[in-house]
Amino acid sequence: MSARLEVKDLRAYYGQVQALHGISFTLEEGSVTTLLGANGAGKTTTLRAICNMVRTTGRIEFDGKPINTMSTENIVKLGIAQVPQGRGTFTRMNVEENLQLGAITRGDKAGIASDIERMYEQFPVLKQRRTQQAGLLSGGEQQMLAVARALMLRPRMLLLDEPSFGLAPLVVRDVFKVLGEINRRDKVTILVVEQNAQLALELADQAYVIETGEIVKSGPAADIANNEDIRKSYLGY
Ligand SMILES: Nc1ncnc2c1ncn2[C@@H]1O[C@H](COP(=O)(O)OP(=O)(O)O)[C@@H](O)[C@H]1O
Ligand SMILES: [Mg+2]
Repeated sequence: MSARLEVKDLRAYYGQVQALHGISFTLEEGSVTTLLGANGAGKTTTLRAICNMVRTTGRIEFDGKPINTMSTENIVKLGIAQVPQGRGTFTRMNVEENLQLGAITRGDKAGIASDIERMYEQFPVLKQRRTQQAGLLSGGEQQMLAVARALMLRPRMLLLDEPSFGLAPLVVRDVFKVLGEINRRDKVTILVVEQNAQLALELADQAYVIETGEIVKSGPAADIANNEDIRKSYLGY
């Protein structure tokens, strides 16, 4: 396996405030990696840093090429899709319009149409609701739509910010199941940041724990899940 994303000594700043203090991690091609941590630890900032949406120093390489100085738009065009915290659907547009917007950087009309059909196969509930306003969907349906919209980019890497947030446990399970399917079927490399460590560790191959802007633990997800000390000290379960 080779590295799809390699992050080295990444620091991030909001004005004078430093939010990341030199973190390093690797996403292996085709793997699922989870970045776990409490509220305020720096999870969202890490995702923002990858897409150059916050001031950073350090090195970020995607498929071996540095992307630190690229614009967010060009980073997206490389095939890096984000599902932001709070889902990021366009609430006043309908389901199908949201899916079309996900493909806005693509020119291949026929490919887009067939991908929308593919999304409806993967997410049957979205097909039923194709003309409904996104804002009127349930929380779980909106999260599925946000994932489907990101997939319309045909990404090589998918970044998700707390996909479990605000969802009932059974719905969270559905969302994570879909992420696993996408990873296996489409070979999309996934980075999922979560406060809900338990489910994220079930899905992930590799895990990192972040605390006040520093990686404090890392390893195979199964090892982290089986380590009671780490679970109790850092993950709250
Ligand atoms: N826009 C901002 N301006 C200043 N500080 C921020 C901003 N966004 C986040 N921070 C700070 O950066 C740190 C990390 O935040 P964040 O990455 O959002 O954490 P998490 O996603 O893990 O909850 C926190 O201390 C937070 O207060
Ligand atoms: Mg966050």
